Amino acid sequence: MNWMVRWAGRFPLFVSEGAGAHFRDADGLDYLDLCLGDTGAMTGHAPAAAVEAVAAQARRGMTFMLPTEDAVWLGEELARRFGLPYWQATLTATDANRFAIRLARHLTGRPKILVFHWCYHGTVDETFVTLRNGTVEARPGNLGPPVDPAETTRVVEFNDLPALEAALAQNDVACVLAEPVMTNIGIVQPEPGFHAALREATRRTGTLLILDETHTISAGPGGCTRAWGLSPDVLTIGKPIAGGVPAAVYGVSSELARRIESGIRVDESDTGGIGGTLAGNALSLAAMRATLESVLTEEAYAKTIPLARRFAEGVAGVIAEQGLPWHVAQLGCRAEYWFRPTPPRNGSEAAAAIDPELDRYMHLAALNRGILMTPFHNMALVSPATTEADIDLHTRVFRESVEALAG
Ligand SMILES: Cc1ncc(COP(=O)(O)O)c(C=O)c1O
Repeated sequence: MNWMVRWAGRFPLFVSEGAGAHFRDADGLDYLDLCLGDTGAMTGHAPAAAVEAVAAQARRGMTFMLPTEDAVWLGEELARRFGLPYWQATLTATDANRFAIRLARHLTGRPKILVFHWCYHGTVDETFVTLRNGTVEARPGNLGPPVDPAETTRVVEFNDLPALEAALAQNDVACVLAEPVMTNIGIVQPEPGFHAALREATRRTGTLLILDETHTISAGPGGCTRAWGLSPDVLTIGKPIAGGVPAAVYGVSSELARRIESGIRVDESDTGGIGGTLAGNALSLAAMRATLESVLTEEAYAKTIPLARRFAEGVAGVIAEQGLPWHVAQLGCRAEYWFRPTPPRNGSEAAAAIDPELDRYMHLAALNRGILMTPFHNMALVSPATTEADIDLHTRVFRESVEALAG
């Protein structure tokens, strides 16, 4: 992948095998993996239940263009976790977001979507946008946008309710697509009352609300939606829900399901621009079922969240010792340090603190001491297989790295 050139160092490591929170590279060196496939392996590598289910399903057939009975179990479990009754499967979170956006435009008859500045929701054209002096532009690095993204997308800062109200007031926005907590420009928490106001404004203006829990599933088994009692019209999630096997889902409310159903003509149902030949394949369904049934469980979070707190406390202690103008944030089993003294209020504040050279140094210093951090920010994920000793190793390595920097 082209983004592999951005790993710290002159080449990416080549992996020979992974188990739990560790992997071994092609030279036989062991690493503590705090990147965990940028959430794709938040379950830990090769979780036994998913491995067994995948192997068993592979022997029984991998894809049929028909559901297996796992679909029924999954629909019920996803409804229990997230509160939305109807679900469809895709292969990636990107696809789940793309299909949710299509449905939103179809159902509302409106052309635009709204996202928050410095969001990331996968390689979704409408979301590859940025705000420059109040104007919507293609995000730097955006390859070959099909149209000027200002035509498809409004962008406002996270936590800016007056800007949100103004952007929705023209009644031409089909949906707001948001993470409950921003995670891709560091962790940016919603201010008190933000989600209630977002829900109220979207309802009042006939705008659908899509919450993307792909990363915020770190907050708990039902993501922030369950933890905070949020009520999106659509919820999307991918990455870790199949233990690393490509799979994602999106769920819709009963009301939306009724509106979708009444508009579908059977003979045209395969040409709507949602789905995919391998979407909902038997292998992904088996992996999702095993992961939700046995890996990303309540008990797992009861272990991983305190360990992420231990990570955050360790890092915060070193930051305080060294008097660095940095802070550390935590969202469930995800924790991250950022090169500014206080938590950012929005994407712009977070982006202003990016220091590519320092970032590369911290990553390389960690890697040379046997720890892989999540690239492009300083994020650590804790899996059910991660141990206190792993976390304390990171604290030691972090201290050594910043001491070397100061000295
Ligand atoms: C919040 C969020 N949504 C969706 C995606 C897209 O996931 P994928 O690349 O697996 O399609 C990402 C990827 O980082 C993400 O962070």
